[in-house]
Amino acid sequence: MSILVTGGAGFIGSNFVLDWLKGSDETVINLDVLSYAGNLENLKTLDGDARHVFVKGDICDRALLDRLLAEHRPRAIVHFAAESHVDRSIHGPAAFVRTNIEGTFTLLEAARAYWGALQGEEKAGFRFHHVSTDEVYGSLKKDDAPFTETNPYEPNSPYSASKAASDHLVRAWHHTYGLPVLTSNCSNNYGPYHFPEKLIPLMIVNALAGKPLPVYGDGQQIRDWLYVTDHASAIRAVIAGGRVGEVYNIGGWNEMANIDIVKTVCALLDELRPSAAGPYERLITYVTDRPGHDRRYAIDARKIERELGWRPAETFQTGIRKTVQWYLDNPDWVARVQSGAYRDWLNKHYG
Ligand code: NAD
Ligand code: DAU
Repeated sequence: MSILVTGGAGFIGSNFVLDWLKGSDETVINLDVLSYAGNLENLKTLDGDARHVFVKGDICDRALLDRLLAEHRPRAIVHFAAESHVDRSIHGPAAFVRTNIEGTFTLLEAARAYWGALQGEEKAGFRFHHVSTDEVYGSLKKDDAPFTETNPYEPNSPYSASKAASDHLVRAWHHTYGLPVLTSNCSNNYGPYHFPEKLIPLMIVNALAGKPLPVYGDGQQIRDWLYVTDHASAIRAVIAGGRVGEVYNIGGWNEMANIDIVKTVCALLDELRPSAAGPYERLITYVTDRPGHDRRYAIDARKIERELGWRPAETFQTGIRKTVQWYLDNPDWVARVQSGAYRDWLNKHYG
């Protein structure tokens, strides 16, 4: 038995693969193009482990997808591969349209052909799990109820629009062709291996380097934070027991304003790695706001709790402490990401 994971060298994908192989001997075929966000060092503990088969390749490559599916006959596809950074989508939306829309379309078509030729139990048990985001629902006002699975789609950035388009394709491939899909829409993740272009890891690495901590606008935008391995456990629960064709929202019931996140990181660093120059909050710098910046996201996670019994294991307090400690314990990972040396890992370890 095997599963095909796309984007398994990225932040959430690599945490998912590590988490999966902790609890299962089912082989993971990991297809990742190794964009700037893909880092095989995240998976170095799997070097030599036959349960992890890494394939460098693009989800837009239909011939490659057909070959992988025919060769490995996975019982599920877990689709993480995407361009994921909102700021990058504002500066260069084309890559987001290509990977998130065209890539998902290509993967759906390959999955449809593969699943269509399966028989009996193999066919009945196959699942296509699409990993998506709460950003497709748009922006909440202060007193609005959190997003449920029936909220209308109102994406506001090129990133969220491309993810919304991919969600619609996945939905249509189920309704029109019967492909057994599952979709999850998750809130902001944080934890180990998070690329330091995103808020939490950027604040940690900048603070340690004595650099400014750039807070967009007034810093009062709200996100709903979930520790990354809780996202992995939620996806496992959906694959195992989710109803085909359904959408599951995943979140940690943990809304926080950006400025409070930054101050929490600063306080933890003051405790764990005090700076001779004084408290890290001195580095907070308000900068020009992100264009079209969504004000608030919040997830109503009652459906996945009710139907699948899933709940996060970490609180924000436990998760953020682990995260800050992980960055303190892994300065080499940070240095190689910052210098670009992490990109040599493929050649060194995979030839
Ligand atoms: P990431 O940017 O860290 O990783 C994306 C991975 O996809 C990288 O390894 C990259 O090399 C790979 N990739 C990109 N284009 C590809 C292509 N054309 N073919 C094959 N591989 C390709 O992203 P992430 O934060 O780990 O997010 C993973 C998924 O989860 C995305 O679909 C994202 O939309 C979704 N999501 C992310 C968050 C979050 O907070 N980070 C929250 C909810 C949902
Ligand atoms: O909500 C889920 C989404 O969360 C995922 O779908 C995306 O892939 C993921 O990147 C994330 O999107 P955000 O835009 O919310 O994450 P980011 O870390 O870029 O920013 C979090 C908040 O912090 C946001 O309100 C913008 C703000 N911010 C971000 C950066 C990088 C700052 O104030 N300063 C910064 O330097």
